[in-house]
Amino acid sequence: MSNRFNLWVSAIQSDIENALATYLPTTSDRRGQIELNEAMRYAVLGGGKRIRPLLVFATGYLFNAPKEVLLPVACAVEMIHAYSLVHDDMPCMDNDTLRRGKPTTHIQFGEAMALLTGDALQAQAFAILAKTGDDPTLSVERIGILAVAVGASGMCGGQAIDLTSIGFPLSYKELEQMDQLKTGALIKASVVLGALSGQKRPSPKAFDALSAYAHSIGLAFQIIDDILDVTGDTDGLGKTAGKDIRDDKPTYVSLLGLQESRKLTEKLHKQAYDALEQFGSDAELLREIADLIIYRKK
Ligand code: IPE
Ligand code: IPE
Ligand code: MG
Ligand code: MG
Ligand code: MG
Repeated sequence: MSNRFNLWVSAIQSDIENALATYLPTTSDRRGQIELNEAMRYAVLGGGKRIRPLLVFATGYLFNAPKEVLLPVACAVEMIHAYSLVHDDMPCMDNDTLRRGKPTTHIQFGEAMALLTGDALQAQAFAILAKTGDDPTLSVERIGILAVAVGASGMCGGQAIDLTSIGFPLSYKELEQMDQLKTGALIKASVVLGALSGQKRPSPKAFDALSAYAHSIGLAFQIIDDILDVTGDTDGLGKTAGKDIRDDKPTYVSLLGLQESRKLTEKLHKQAYDALEQFGSDAELLREIADLIIYRKK
């Protein structure tokens, strides 16, 4: 990754952090609500790679999307992601105690507050999307796209498959579908929402290329997550390492082994690059995000 890219990443991460802070609730004089606001800030701020917001921005720039629109769109996506992590960590799901180097939200605030934190973050994401301030038709389109991506036929559906697959070995196809839903759907939505935030609408050809790119990096993202669970350590990852094997989770590593999983990510990386060919150097940021996803250490 180039130095220029690293600087760009840091700048976006910092803009996102500041914007998220302004979109999260702060004031209340009621005990429970004060705690809920605090838990929402705890779950969202001060951590995370912000990969999905980076994708929104990198795709948005391809279509001259203004920062005033990309920032709320990226924050909405990140809030959905943060909500999914809060719920994913709860005892009824993966039962994890560490996230982004801190105790998980339910450990810090209790299960009921964690449940509400996820609910409220999801609602806030859509509230932000409803007020992006550009074309109202585009705004409604983006709301619909995100809703579908994270609902029963997207992220929630994938999480449901994940949770009910323990003890049932999945075929390669079934595992791929699960990962495309639980992780790929929100990643693809980030790319599509970035593309639908500019004045210039993407051509069908550009749209197909971006979908293919997102499809490849979305799956690669989860395979790398599965690999890191085995090869990483808890300190470096900021979440408990070795958890998937202990919980008998269906993962790429359990199905294909480490080496084959790594090979598959290389193949997906190349597919992602191939998909971007028509954009030439304009898609450099998207290429470097693909590199970041494949070569990350956490
Ligand atoms: C972890 O996502 C959950 C998955 C979808 C695999 P990230 O690796 O993007 O987590 P943060 O946001 O950087 O903490
Ligand atoms: C999480 O996948 C996917 C979603 C949160 C939708 P994992 O369960 O593998 O994520 P980690 O490893 O806990 O971050
Ligand atoms: Mg999980
Ligand atoms: Mg998990
Ligand atoms: Mg994982």
